[in-house]
Amino acid sequence: MPETAILQLPDQSIELPLLTGTEDEKAVDISKLRAQTGYITLDTGFMNTGSCTSAVTFLDGEKGILRYRGYPIEQLAEHSSFVEVSYLLIYGELPTQEQLASFSKLLSQHSLIHEGLKQVFGGFSKSAHPMVILSAMVASLSAYYSEASGKASVENLDINGARLLAKIRTIAAFSYKKTIGQPFIYPTDSLAYVPNFLNMMFAVPAEPYEIHPDVARALELLLILHADHEQNCSTSTVRVVGSSMANVYASVASGILALWGPLHGGANQAVLEMLAQIQNDGGDVDKFIKLGKDPDSGFRLMGFGHRVYKNYDPRAKIIKSACDRVLSSLGVQDPLLDIARKLEEATLSDSYFVERKLYPNVDFYSGIIYRALGIPANMFTVMFALGRVPGWIAQWKEMHEDPRTKIARPRQLYTGSLIRDYVPMSQRG
Ligand code: CMC
Repeated sequence: MPETAILQLPDQSIELPLLTGTEDEKAVDISKLRAQTGYITLDTGFMNTGSCTSAVTFLDGEKGILRYRGYPIEQLAEHSSFVEVSYLLIYGELPTQEQLASFSKLLSQHSLIHEGLKQVFGGFSKSAHPMVILSAMVASLSAYYSEASGKASVENLDINGARLLAKIRTIAAFSYKKTIGQPFIYPTDSLAYVPNFLNMMFAVPAEPYEIHPDVARALELLLILHADHEQNCSTSTVRVVGSSMANVYASVASGILALWGPLHGGANQAVLEMLAQIQNDGGDVDKFIKLGKDPDSGFRLMGFGHRVYKNYDPRAKIIKSACDRVLSSLGVQDPLLDIARKLEEATLSDSYFVERKLYPNVDFYSGIIYRALGIPANMFTVMFALGRVPGWIAQWKEMHEDPRTKIARPRQLYTGSLIRDYVPMSQRG
C-alpha cells in the first residue's frame, strides 16, 4: 500500500500521509492540510474524523468487537471485577495481586466526601434529576483539592483519579437518597466497591440491609460493560474540556452532562419509559415499530441503533443473557422484558431496521436489570456514568501523556452574511 494519498484540488495537488493502527485501521493524516492548501475538511457529527490516536479501547462496529486494552469484553465480563477493569483501563495492564490490593485500598480510603460538600445537596430541589446533582457535585470536588488545578491535576492524576472513582460512588448514592428524602448512608470501607455502593443506596438507619450476591454481581457486570467505549460523545467531551487544561473533575463533570442526553447514555432511562408507554397503551408492539419507522412521527425506538455498531452491540448480547439469569435468580417477572423481546424480534425481521443495520444497543436491556435490582429509572444514567468513570480517567490521562495533544479547537465553514453596516433602530424595517 502506498505511504501517501494524493488529494487533487482545483488549483493544486498534495500528498497526505497514510496511517495504519495496530488492528489495521486506516487513516489519512490531514493535520497539515490547511497550512499547506488553505482547505479544511467538513465532517458534521465527526462521522469520519479521528480526533486522536488511542491505545485504550478497540471497537470494530462491523464485526461487533469490543476490547479494553486488547482483552475481549466477553472475557472481562465473565472473569474480572469493576475495580480490576478500572485499573486495566487507567494503567494499561491487568494488576498483580499487590497492585489490585493497593488500588482497592486507595478507593476505600477516599470514599468519604467532604462534609462541606454534603451541605450542597441541600440546595437542590427534591425533583432535581440525579444526573444534574452528580455533575454539579463532581465539578465541586475540584474546590476541595488544591492538587486538582491546571497542570497539577495532570501530575497528581493517580490520587485525583482514585478520589474521583471512590467519591462518585458516594455522590451517586447520596444523590438518590436526596431525591427520595432518606438520610445519607456513609461508605463502609470493609465492603468491596459494588457492595459498598449498594449499601449506601439501599440501607436505612432503622433496619439492616443484606446485600444479595446476585444483585452485586449483576451490577458489577453492568459497570464493567460500560467502563469505556473509545471516542463517544461524552468521552470526546472529557477530552475536549481537558485539552484546555481544565482539571479532571471539571472534565468528567462535563462528560456526565454529555452522557445525560437521550441519544447517548440517557437512552437507558428513555428505553424503560418507552417500554412502559407501550405497556400502558395495550402492548401493541407493531404500532410502535410503525411509529419508529415514520420520520414524521418524531418517535424513535430508543435502545436501537448506534453510530459505530452496524452489527449486534456485543455489550447488548451479554446484557440480554444476563437479563434472563438475573431476573430468574431474583424471582422477578417483568412484563416489560416480554415487550422488549417482542420488539427486538420484530425489528430483526423488519426491512427498515435490517437495511439500516439498527440492532439493540447497550441501553436496550440494561434498564430491565437495573429495575430488577431495585434501581429507579431516573438513576439508570447515573449507573452508566458510574461505570464510565474509569474510561474517562484513562482517556484524559492518555491525552495528557501524548506530546502531540493540543487544545481542541475545530474549524467551521462560514455560511452567514457578508460584511454589512450597522443599521440604526429608527431605520430598521
Ligand atoms: N429508531 C428508528 N430509526 C432509527 C433509529 C431508531 N432508534 N436510529 C437510527 N434510525 C434511522 C434514522 O432515522 C436514519 O434513517 P434514514 O437513513 O432513513 O434517515 C438511519 O437510521 C441512520 O440514523 P442516524 O440518526 O443518521 O444515525 P446516527 O449514527 O447519527 O445515530 C444514534 C446513532 C444512536 C443516535 C441513533 O441510532 C438513535 O437515535 N438511537 C436511539 C437512541 C439510543 O438508543 N441511543 C443509545 C446509543 S448506544 C449507547 C450510547 O452511545 O450511549
